[in-house]
Amino acid sequence: TKKMILDLDTGVDDALAIAYALAAPDVDLIGIVSSYGNCLVEQSGENSLKLLELLGATDVPVFLGASHSSTTDHFDVMQVSKDIHGNNGIGEVALPKAKRPIETQSGIDFLIEAAHKYADNLIFVPTGPMTNLDAALAKDPAIADLIGNVTFMGGALTVEGNVTSDAEANINQDPEAADRVMRSHLKITMVGLDVTLRTLLTKAETQVWRNLGTDAGKNYADITDFYIDAYYNLDIDKNGCALHDPLAVGVALDPSFVQTIDLNMKVTYDESNYGRTVGDKDRLNDPTTNVKVAVNVDKQRYLDTFMNYLTQLFKQ
Ligand code: BDR
Ligand code: CA
Repeated sequence: TKKMILDLDTGVDDALAIAYALAAPDVDLIGIVSSYGNCLVEQSGENSLKLLELLGATDVPVFLGASHSSTTDHFDVMQVSKDIHGNNGIGEVALPKAKRPIETQSGIDFLIEAAHKYADNLIFVPTGPMTNLDAALAKDPAIADLIGNVTFMGGALTVEGNVTSDAEANINQDPEAADRVMRSHLKITMVGLDVTLRTLLTKAETQVWRNLGTDAGKNYADITDFYIDAYYNLDIDKNGCALHDPLAVGVALDPSFVQTIDLNMKVTYDESNYGRTVGDKDRLNDPTTNVKVAVNVDKQRYLDTFMNYLTQLFKQ
């Protein structure tokens, strides 16, 4: 079985990514590294611990990563993140205090250790900023050739960003880190807005979870409804909420959910193009490409799989 590490800024869709990773067959979720983004890193870690407890996965360790980007010394949560994910990151739903603590080892060291231990068998899925992965590469460059695959949620190639017309939120937090990650030797798949904005969930689906009558079903329905309401009220999409982060987990486990193109990607961070993920003109003729970019998704098959997995999980 494949081993998976998630790197989350645990907001609502990150919470759905945890559920997908736990429910999917043939993969072991061996740990969660926490990032800043939708909320502060400490809040992100606490949210992950609480969600794991809600789902009965009390054996999955949670680590802290960076508290701010590689180019700043401080991070404040953006107001729009609070509007979309709630002040606590998980839709203002108050889950019971976790019985376990966060691990004392740093998330960056945990990733480095796991890369050496599991090598090709390890899948790393960042669904927040790239700061932790970048820090791990700086500390131990050998991991670039060890980790089996990195499938990240972030960026936008064929559509505009969601923070600015250039930048998607995760890349916007630390574009320089994302650029270094893309230029490393890692095997990378990008699951960006190109595909994640097409996989939408509605309240018809969250009602199915609520109707299960379980704690997990009820809380996940409440958490997700906050996010669906925000999408509606902020006019992001009136037809449902985007399954950004759980789609990245789905693609990491079953790449056939998406069509990809092989490109030499980079991230720009001048004032005029801050946080843009784009093909590198200087390497157009370089046959060794660095990123598989998802540009199309089999959305019905993905949504059916997503609902099957999560409904089964929430039943228990
Ligand atoms: C990404 O940004 C975060 O707010 C979400 O959790 C997702 O990972 C979408 O742009
Ligand atoms: Ca996220």
